[in-house]
Amino acid sequence: MHSFRYVQNQLQCESVPLTSLVKKYGTPLYVYSQETLTDHFTKLDQALSPLEHLICFAMKSNSNLAVINTLANLGSGFDTVSAGEIQRVIAAGGDPRKCVFAGVGKTEEEIAYALSQDIYCFNVESEAELKRISKVALKHKKIAPVAVRVNPNVDAGTHAKITTGTYANKFGIAFEQIEAVYARAARLPNLRLRGLQMHIGSQLTDVKPFRLAVEKVAPLVARLNAKHGFDFFSIGGGLGIVYNPALESGDPQWWKTAPARKILTPETYAKTLVPLLQPLGLKILLEPGRFLTGNAGALLTRVEYIKRTGKKNFVIVDAAMNDLIRPAFYDSYHQIVPLKRSKGAPISSDVVGPICESGDYFAKDRPLPKVGEGDYLALLSAGAYGSVMGSNYNSRSLAAEVLVKGKKSALVRKRQTTADIWANESVANWK
Ligand code: LLP
Repeated sequence: MHSFRYVQNQLQCESVPLTSLVKKYGTPLYVYSQETLTDHFTKLDQALSPLEHLICFAMKSNSNLAVINTLANLGSGFDTVSAGEIQRVIAAGGDPRKCVFAGVGKTEEEIAYALSQDIYCFNVESEAELKRISKVALKHKKIAPVAVRVNPNVDAGTHAKITTGTYANKFGIAFEQIEAVYARAARLPNLRLRGLQMHIGSQLTDVKPFRLAVEKVAPLVARLNAKHGFDFFSIGGGLGIVYNPALESGDPQWWKTAPARKILTPETYAKTLVPLLQPLGLKILLEPGRFLTGNAGALLTRVEYIKRTGKKNFVIVDAAMNDLIRPAFYDSYHQIVPLKRSKGAPISSDVVGPICESGDYFAKDRPLPKVGEGDYLALLSAGAYGSVMGSNYNSRSLAAEVLVKGKKSALVRKRQTTADIWANESVANWK
């Protein structure tokens, strides 16, 4: 489900009309629904209830403190990829002891910091990293909990830029080498071999690659567990969401209808994987990002100009690729709907931002209801990898963010001021 829907032709997030938010906070504006975050977390948590498990929210998808806090209150752990992310968890009231720390380039300082916070586990990406963690742990008289990331060489069948589980990717250690790596790791000081981790890619809409990967890796986990006494097996993240209800529903007038139906549900995911995982008798960790946050967020933007060229109808909006880079970077589809729904035939339009790049677009040749200057649009399913991938390109301020719960809304990130953008810069002291 998601909580962005029309009520009397006005788009609402839960019970809050979005026009009231753009009036109060301006645009571009990210809006998140606490109801959707909670619903998605709970559904996944319940589907996995036959297993002892811990959901570690991949906070790279959305690291706003209010989002982290919402999930922490539901009992979530966190999949982090930098010391900064661990600090964010703590700042948001989350528990560092429920954090896993992933990423191919952990520095000594980051490792020392993570050890000082007693994180749950390091997800290790190379043998050199194992040695580094051992060295830092020895120096700080700590025992470092580690899990090696196995690269199972299974194609996730998703966009090339978000596939991670094949030998063409920089991630993990090859399946065939894992047992020898664990044997060597067992001889390194101050390490506790706590589990095994994998992650094959993002935005998977089919359960099959997950099944193939778990089928391949589970026997390896069983063998390693017998030798090293594991606590857990982490199956990573990657659960996909619906971005384009038209594709799912086959309804050419999708913008008139409720978002749709055909998706990889937590139930299908769990029904397929639980029987494969249960016999291991281990705690199962998972690292969903997009599934929890994607459909919980929208980016609101104001129409600044309509520009008709001989060929095209351009809708120029005040949000840009610096606010939401996914269409430019991955050719991603985001549903675009007006805050006020009107009648009339859709017009094929390109929705573009003000940045000086042809790649600064949100949609091309998209049938859109007629809009004009001063109207507002919502880019849906922007809660994951939206705001977090924002930049100051073209000296544009980072967007404000609002969390909604029922009838309430809270500004959870102020709009950045222009002076903030260059606050850390200075002019050299020579001419
Ligand atoms: N675990 C690991 C080790 C990951 O690398 C990722 C995502 C996740 C979990 C969470 O994956 P999710 O459940 O969100 O699919 N910026 C791209 C997505 C990059 C994903 C990076 N890693 C996008 O906008 O589609």
